[in-house]
Parts: sequence; C-alpha cells; structure tokens
Amino acid sequence: MRPVLIFGASRGVGLALARLLRDQSIPVTAMLRSPVASAELESMGAHVVCGDAFSCDDVARAFASHDPVCGVVSTLGGRRADGRYVDDEGNINVIDQATAHGVGRFVFVTSIGCGEMAPFRSERAIAAFGAAVDAKTRAEEHLRSVIPEATIIRPGGLRSDPATGRGILTSDPQMHGFINREDVAQLAARAFFDPATRGRSFAAVDSDTARSDNSVAPFDLRPWSENLVSPAI
Ligand SMILES: NC(=O)c1ccc[n+]([C@@H]2O[C@H](COP(=O)([O-])OP(=O)(O)OC[C@H]3O[C@@H](n4cnc5c(N)ncnc54)[C@H](OP(=O)(O)O)[C@@H]3O)[C@@H](O)[C@H]2O)c1
Repeated sequence: MRPVLIFGASRGVGLALARLLRDQSIPVTAMLRSPVASAELESMGAHVVCGDAFSCDDVARAFASHDPVCGVVSTLGGRRADGRYVDDEGNINVIDQATAHGVGRFVFVTSIGCGEMAPFRSERAIAAFGAAVDAKTRAEEHLRSVIPEATIIRPGGLRSDPATGRGILTSDPQMHGFINREDVAQLAARAFFDPATRGRSFAAVDSDTARSDNSVAPFDLRPWSENLVSPAI
C-alpha cells in the first residue's frame, strides 16, 4: 500500500492518527517543521520529511518524497508571529500540491464553525477563534473547488483525554460539543477509507457532549475492521 501523507503529525490529532495507521501497518509519511516528534514517529515506522507548510517548495518536497501517495490528511493549524495563518496559507499549499500530484483522497480536519456552520457560532467563539476559523473556511472552500470529493471533518472543542470511542460525525450545521483528540483521529482514519464520506463535510463531537437544536443524527461510518479487509482507496 502507498503511504498516507499527514501534515500536522507532530502532536494532537495528527500524531494520534499516525499512531493508529501504523498500528494497522499502514505506511505513513509525515511532514514536520521541527524535529521534536521525529524520533517518536520513526519509532512507529513512519517516514519523516522536514518542512514548513508556509513554503511551497517544502510541501512539494514532501509530496515528491513518496510519489504517488494514497492520500493526504491535514490537521495543520496555528498562527505565525507575523499574524499569518497556516490554517489557510499552509493548508492551501498542501491542497495545491495534492491537486498537482493527482491525489484524490484528502481528509481535512478543520473546526466546528467553518463553512455553513458559521451562522451558528456564538459571540464568544467568534471573539476567541473567529479569525482562525475563517482562515480554515477559506482553505475548505479552496479544497472543495479543486478536490470536490475530499472529506472535511470539523471537530468541536478538543481535549487530550484518552479516546472514549463515542466520537460521532454529523452533518448538522448547528452541532456544538467537545471531543478528545484520539477520537477525532479514529473518525478521520475511518472516514479516510470510507467512500460514503467523499464530498461531505461533518462536525465531529463526542456523543456525550453533543448539543444542537436538532436531534442528534450520527453519520453511519463504516467500521474500521471492514476498511482493513477492503480498503476503498
Ligand atoms: N484547540 C481546539 O479546541 C480546536 C477545536 C477545533 C479544531 N481545532 C483544530 O483541529 C486541528 C488539530 O488540532 P490539534 O490540537 O490536534 O493540533 P495542534 O496542536 O493545533 O497542531 C497543529 C499542527 O500543525 C502543525 N503546524 C503548524 N504550523 C505549521 C507549519 N508552518 N508547518 C508545518 N506544520 C505546522 C503543528 O506543528 P508544530 O508542532 O511544529 O507546531 C502541529 O503538528 C487543528 O487544525 C486545530 O486548529 C482545534
């Protein structure tokens, strides 16, 4: 199997995803801008490429290191000291390279509040992370325009506790809630191999924290075990 190329695997959701895939012997390549997580990723058997997502050349090198890859997952997020957001700029570099390399499978981890969820953001959320969420929305829109079959996963507030196994995906734009990073990684891994998620955008929350004016309707994701028997990519 060709590798899954992950951007954002130094920590959080991206690192948990790399661990999950490697536990199933799925090849992983990770682009990191600092070597801090290299040893941990390499000890799992992941291949590490150094690079900064703000640099088109670095991102192109990551794609060239294992051409072709079987797909891409980006969990990139954050703002540089000069105010530029990797949420849009870095992710758009990744999306453009994925397009240039003909990568069809792309799972993009953004945030609750992006896209059609924007009207349902609270004033507090807009004040706290509105600019980052808007930057992620710009990257989502770019992704949809060039890789329409990509899957977008928008987690609620992230926590670092162990997985509960109760993470859900839902297309309800009014959904709010929290979710553990390990659960987002599980959902992203399952969605990556589930063809029914192609072209769709989902909120991701733990079912125990799910809040909406609508009744909670989880998307019926294919079980992980089926993905391993017949990976649909
Ligand atoms: N915090 C929340 O409650 C919340 C809620 C919803 C969604 N989200 C979003 O969900 C995603 C996953 O969150 P998380 O907390 O697991 O991860 P995170 O801690 O936000 O990690 C972001 C990743 O992006 C990498 N990165 C940032 N700038 C980069 C650059 N210029 N070049 C290469 N890599 C770069 C970071 O690498 P370094 O280690 O080198 O910095 C890190 O691996 C993020 O996009 C986050 O914004 C967060």
